[in-house]
This record gives sequence, structure tokens and C-alpha cells, in this order.
Amino acid sequence: MYVVIGGNGFLGGHLIQQIRNVTDELIVASFHSKKGGEGVSNLTWVELDVTNTDSIFKFYDAIRKLRKSGELIKCIYTSGYIKPDECLRNPNIAVKNNILSLINFIAITRELIDSLIFTSTDFVFEESQSSYRYKEEDEPNPINFYGTIKLICEKIIIRNNYTVVRLPFMFGRSLNPNKEHFIEHIERVIKNNEVFYVLSDYYENSLDYGTVARCITNLFFLYQTKIPFPIIHICGDLPVSKYEIALEYASKQGLNSDCIKPLKLEEASFFLAKRATILLDNSLVKSLLGLKNLEFKV
Ligand SMILES: NC(=O)c1ccc[n+]([C@@H]2O[C@H](COP(=O)([O-])OP(=O)(O)OC[C@H]3O[C@@H](n4cnc5c(N)ncnc54)[C@H](OP(=O)(O)O)[C@@H]3O)[C@@H](O)[C@H]2O)c1
Repeated sequence: MYVVIGGNGFLGGHLIQQIRNVTDELIVASFHSKKGGEGVSNLTWVELDVTNTDSIFKFYDAIRKLRKSGELIKCIYTSGYIKPDECLRNPNIAVKNNILSLINFIAITRELIDSLIFTSTDFVFEESQSSYRYKEEDEPNPINFYGTIKLICEKIIIRNNYTVVRLPFMFGRSLNPNKEHFIEHIERVIKNNEVFYVLSDYYENSLDYGTVARCITNLFFLYQTKIPFPIIHICGDLPVSKYEIALEYASKQGLNSDCIKPLKLEEASFFLAKRATILLDNSLVKSLLGLKNLEFKV
């Protein structure tokens, strides 16, 4: 049985899709603000607010009842208060919704959930110097407060013998009709011929949500509840800027990209939390999954 915490999120939706591609096992997806789509075989939605202890206990009861005798539970935890600027503006909410909620969730569900993958970020590192690609064993040094919060979450996960995946900026078509992401935004600005400035000199080893979800699903598929490393970087082979992603998407779709303009990070005065090029090494995940290349799809 699979449990997806944050099933209505961007990554959560792709995870549900990818898990259904490889198995008939039951998927229990948590929803917070709004229930997800009905009528999908082997998918059950259960409400969960990870900031509320009663809600976690109810969720625990629900998955305990849904689990067949002896069945192992594999969980992917994507929930969080995850916008770096919002975390800086509201540090108490950031600590409560990310760290305290995670501690509570694990304390209540630990004996039931056999294996859990937690979604962390490349922001647990500082800016890459000389295009250095951080490896899993490198000492983190978070670039901003959001990175610090995620690093503390990582330590909680590892102490509980669960698994951390560190992810870069992800993009892709939103599977949630109520939530627009980067790709839908690009489509809209091109359609309306609005000028859209996109960061052009700051790089990550970005991947699309579908590819990240496929990697996570395949880790569970291949290793079941015994994923052999505590931290795994899931990211692309090549560094790419958001501007390059936007242009490539427009080109693949045959859209006119004249309204997409490059923006240098030092000119982007709207960011509160520090950003910079952070590159991750992906050789571990490629060797675990038997992949030669890991490239994004637009
Ligand atoms: N997006 C990126 O580029 C990126 C990069 C690196 C790492 N990550 C990590 O990847 C994970 C998924 O990101 P995403 O882009 O899919 O984000 P997202 O769409 O915002 O998904 C977050 C999910 O968390 C749920 N959630 C929020 N507060 C909750 C609460 N109190 N109780 C229960 N659930 C709650 C949301 O539920 P509702 O929608 O129902 O409110 C949503 O489904 C996050 O942990 C993020 O830190 C993302």
C-alpha cells in the first residue's frame, strides 16, 4: 500500500499517476484544502492537516483500517510550507508546518509506516563554486532559512531510518485543475502577449515533476521498504535556468516566445530569501535505478 501525503500538490499528483502506472496496490492520498478527483481505481482520499494532532490520529486510524493484514506501507511525504520568501516572512508558521508537524506525524504513525521518502531541496546547500555538484555525503550549509528548515526535517527523517530525496526546481503540467504552475503560467502569458521576465543566470539541475515522480516510484518498486541510502539526489544531468526551460517549452509547443524575457538574479529585487546556482550530483540515483541519463521532459 502506498500513502501520498499531499496528493493534491504538484508532485503529489504526478506521484499518484506514476504509482498507478506500475502497480495495482491501493494508494491512500491525503488532501488538505480540497479533495482530489473521484472515480479513480485503487485510489482513496483521506483528509489530513499535519499541523493538527487530532487530524493525524484520524488519518492514522484510516490507513490502519485500509491496510490489509501483513501489508507493508510505503509513504511519500510532500507536505510543507515551502515558499522560501514566505518562510522568512512567517518563521513561526514555517517551523510549525514543517518541523513540528513532521515530528508529530512520525511519532503517531511510525509503527504503521514501514518506509517513508521525504522531499527535501537543493537549498540545503550554499551556492556552488566553480560548477561544483554537491554529493549526498557533502556537508550541507543552507543558502536560506527555508533550506535550514528542510535540513532539520532531513535529520528527523534520518534518525527514524527513513529516506530523504533532495530535489531541484521542478516544473511540469499541473494535474490539479485548481492550481497553476510554471508551464500554465507561460502558456497564459504567451496567449495574452504579456511580457514575462524569467531568471536566466541562476541554474539548478531541474527536472519535470513526472520524471521526479517516476524516480521516486521506481525506488520503491525496486527496493520496496529497503531503500539502501538515507539521502538520494534526484535531479537532471544538465544545469538549466528557468528562462531556458521556458524557451524550450515554447519551442516544443510551437509557441511564439517573444514575450519571454531574460532576467538577471541581481535585478530580481522581488526575492527576500537568497537564491543562487546550486548544482547536485545525480550519479547515485542513476546507479540505483540503472539509468544512463536523467533529463527533463517539457
Ligand atoms: N516545487 C519545487 O520546485 C520543489 C523543489 C525542491 C523541493 N520541493 C519539495 O517537494 C515537495 C512537493 O512540492 P510541490 O511543488 O508539489 O508543492 P505543493 O504543490 O505546494 O504541494 C504541497 C502539498 O502539501 C499539502 N499541505 C500543505 N499544508 C498542509 C497541511 N497543513 N496538512 C497536510 N497537507 C498540507 C498541500 O495540500 P493542499 O494542496 O490540499 O493544500 C499540497 O498538496 C515539497 O516538500 C517541497 O518542499 C519542491
